[in-house]
Amino acid sequence: MLRLLFYLSAVITLPGVAAVRTDSSSVFNISSCPIMFYGQKYEEVYVNLTSENIVICFNGFYSPQSRGDCLLGPKVEKAYFEVHERSSLLEERVHENVRDIKTSMNCYVYFELWREESVAQLSITSFERQAALKLNLFLSDTVDVDVLVDNNSVDALTVTNPSDYVYNVAYTDISGCRDSGLAYKAGTVVNSVPETCLSFICSETAVLQNSTCGPLERCQGNGSCFLDAICTVTGPTVIDFFGHLDFVKDRCVYSLLNIPSVSDFQVLAKFQERRRKDVSFLDSVTLEVNGTHIHLKQGGIVLVEDTPLNLNSSAQVVHGLQLSKDQTGVTAMLQIDDLKITIFFDGYTGQILVEGPAGPSLQGLCQNSSEPRLPEYSSTSCETQYNDTEDHFINCTKITERCNLLKEAPFTSCPIDPEPYITACTDTLCKYPAVDGLKCQFLEAYVKACSLFSNTTLEDWRSKAECPSPEAFCQEMTCSDHEFCGEKNDCEETRCFCRPIFASKYRERNTLGDPTVCRRNTASLTLAGCLLEDKGIDYTFLHLNDPTCRGQMNERTHMVTFCFRSKRCGTEVSVNNSRIIYKNTITNKNSFSDMIVRQNQVKIEFSCYLNQPGIKSMALRYKDVMMPESHSSSTPSLQHSTRLKQS
Ligand SMILES: *[C@@H]1O[C@H](CO)[C@@H](O)[C@H](O)[C@H]1NC(C)=O
Ligand SMILES: *[C@@H]1O[C@H](CO)[C@@H](O)[C@H](O)[C@H]1NC(C)=O
Ligand SMILES: *[C@@H]1O[C@H](CO)[C@@H](O)[C@H](O)[C@H]1NC(C)=O
Ligand SMILES: *[C@@H]1O[C@H](CO)[C@@H](O)[C@H](O)[C@H]1NC(C)=O
Ligand SMILES: *[C@@H]1O[C@H](CO)[C@@H](O)[C@H](O)[C@H]1NC(C)=O
Ligand SMILES: *[C@@H]1O[C@H](CO)[C@@H](O)[C@H](O)[C@H]1NC(C)=O
Ligand SMILES: *[C@@H]1O[C@H](CO)[C@@H](O)[C@H](O)[C@H]1NC(C)=O
Ligand SMILES: *[C@@H]1O[C@H](CO)[C@@H](O)[C@H](O)[C@H]1NC(C)=O
Ligand SMILES: *[C@@H]1O[C@H](CO)[C@@H](O)[C@H](O)[C@H]1NC(C)=O
Ligand SMILES: *[C@@H]1O[C@H](CO)[C@@H](O)[C@H](O)[C@H]1NC(C)=O
Ligand SMILES: *[C@@H]1O[C@H](CO)[C@@H](O)[C@H](O)[C@H]1NC(C)=O
Ligand SMILES: *[C@@H]1O[C@H](CO)[C@@H](O)[C@H](O)[C@H]1NC(C)=O
Repeated sequence: MLRLLFYLSAVITLPGVAAVRTDSSSVFNISSCPIMFYGQKYEEVYVNLTSENIVICFNGFYSPQSRGDCLLGPKVEKAYFEVHERSSLLEERVHENVRDIKTSMNCYVYFELWREESVAQLSITSFERQAALKLNLFLSDTVDVDVLVDNNSVDALTVTNPSDYVYNVAYTDISGCRDSGLAYKAGTVVNSVPETCLSFICSETAVLQNSTCGPLERCQGNGSCFLDAICTVTGPTVIDFFGHLDFVKDRCVYSLLNIPSVSDFQVLAKFQERRRKDVSFLDSVTLEVNGTHIHLKQGGIVLVEDTPLNLNSSAQVVHGLQLSKDQTGVTAMLQIDDLKITIFFDGYTGQILVEGPAGPSLQGLCQNSSEPRLPEYSSTSCETQYNDTEDHFINCTKITERCNLLKEAPFTSCPIDPEPYITACTDTLCKYPAVDGLKCQFLEAYVKACSLFSNTTLEDWRSKAECPSPEAFCQEMTCSDHEFCGEKNDCEETRCFCRPIFASKYRERNTLGDPTVCRRNTASLTLAGCLLEDKGIDYTFLHLNDPTCRGQMNERTHMVTFCFRSKRCGTEVSVNNSRIIYKNTITNKNSFSDMIVRQNQVKIEFSCYLNQPGIKSMALRYKDVMMPESHSSSTPSLQHSTRLKQS
């Protein structure tokens, strides 16, 4: 009668498995509802009813002499056994009461334990790789169930009835792991070796896992791991924290590092072409701190947004960054909690060192140089890639020999793998001439990485590799955005050169600058300083027909502008039909003769016209805007008369 009452709260028995009553020892086949018990999968249960208790074992009949996986229950007179399908109510209760079980329930093995008028229900619930016990009690005072693994008691359930006709419930997780004959509950540490930081844990889903320091981390000998990694960006190459090398082939801004979990901090790198369109170089590094941009540029220039910052060797704190500068370059240091980030930039090579407790997830090209790239800020045109003709003057064998110096002493005393640096060096310099300091740039980058990462100073590497002292090349030289600083031929001297993509639109039209701009009564012509220099023309020698009318160079853009008003600066005025034409010429021919010996002769004519008030067209009466007379004569070009006057 009572049994039927409880039976109502249950449930659908699995097909073909009827409730079985037992009052002696029995074996039950539970292959229709296997149970994972501390990492071991069981398909049978062995039930003994002894004079003291009921023992439900999974690996054979209970005997105190054997090492059993058992549930040791109270003394009972009889028991009922059933296998049930998933019960959503029971599943919900287990999810509520057993923290680590989140998967769905498969089925459960059900026991009813009877003694006199009192009954306990023991459900062994199966959840994918996990399992839990549920014990509830009716009427009697107290019931205990001990969980034995290998005959060792590892857990116990106790249920006490507060009063008649009220029942109480208890749950426990019986998934877990075993290691060397010992059982471990899910979510616990099994074993850990502080010296090696190797630890074994029983995961929350009861899987025995081992863990040690990550590939970027070092074991500190007390069980804690320390993140210590360096990334080098030099020329077109990115050698990420893992030592993987990849190339940037376009002219975009990319994120080198950001730490989304920690702070609003990001390191950005801008790439630009130099002598060839098809090879890009790291051009500047921007540190974005809480929305403020600190630009590290070539020549040791540091800008906070647009304001230049004067730095020296003693650190200055700017927006939480410690900034300092010496003759080798600019160093920025940022401490975010226990994580220390050091950024170094010498105008050509950028390096990022991260040091601190393991944990934060890092993003950007320094974390993975080959991850899919998404330009920041830049227009999509920055992604266009070019193909220049091969440089046949490069001896790749010789370059490879030089780059391979990194395999020899004194470089061998550095703990960083030189391979990616050697590949960066050879792949770049077999394509692009080793000028503008590139001969030493990759070796320099490796040496700097060593000193930042391991505090290793390599002795005498400069004499071995024939590299000059560490003064940053082009220090204190400011070129405009469309220029780069490079060596003049055969000379130690440096100057600003036009970037080839900027220059190509002028070279195609054989001009030195932009079309004439005609306004109400002024005409102006702007020439690119770097194009003039390419032609060996010093803009300070250029003037209009009137030698006192000279060009003005814009300090930021390095563009040289010549300007004349309609009747000044020797302007020639002529009339053709209804137009008044104002014409002037940029030239250097009237310069002092002994100062122009090395100057190309220049003759650039430019003109604007003014429509005279038309007799018929009243509406156009005041249309006195100067217009370029014609495309060909209004765009500045070296005329046929221009030729080099040899000394
Ligand atoms: C348990 O039952 C299944 C299916 O009824 C059967 O295939 C299996 O052999 C049985 N296991 C044992 C140990 O008898
Ligand atoms: C449990 O039952 C088995 C099979 O009947 C028997 O061999 C074994 O001795 C019993 N164990 C105990 C502790 O009574
Ligand atoms: C099993 O455990 C019981 C109780 O702790 C102990 O008396 C017995 O010796 C153990 N058996 C084995 C084989 O370790
Ligand atoms: C750690 O686990 C992996 C697989 O998860 C295994 O290949 C490796 O041997 C384990 N290491 C140790 C020291 O047990
Ligand atoms: C381990 O050692 C390092 C340095 O030796 C120390 O900074 C760190 O706090 C230590 N960690 C623990 C968990 O003791
Ligand atoms: C560095 O610059 C700061 C501020 O501009 C100045 O106070 C300090 O004296 C300078 N230190 C050296 C060594 O020149
Ligand atoms: C950014 O601003 C927040 C709030 O003002 C501050 O706590 C944090 O330290 C700043 N981050 C950095 C890198 O300075
Ligand atoms: C880097 O990104 C590439 C492309 O998404 C991926 O195949 C590779 O596994 C990543 N490497 C690391 C170390 O995460
Ligand atoms: C450049 O030329 C090479 C060889 O001719 C070719 O394999 C490559 O696809 C070209 N790349 C682009 C971006 O046009
Ligand atoms: C390239 O350099 C190697 C080694 O310096 C030299 O043996 C070889 O003759 C050079 N090749 C050319 C074409 O100059
Ligand atoms: C690096 O080495 C130098 C001398 O070898 C030493 O003075 C300095 O304290 C070291 N720095 C670090 C961060 O270990
Ligand atoms: C006058 O202008 C016409 C077109 O408007 C042009 O064809 C002609 O060559 C010009 N004459 C002179 C002398 O510039």
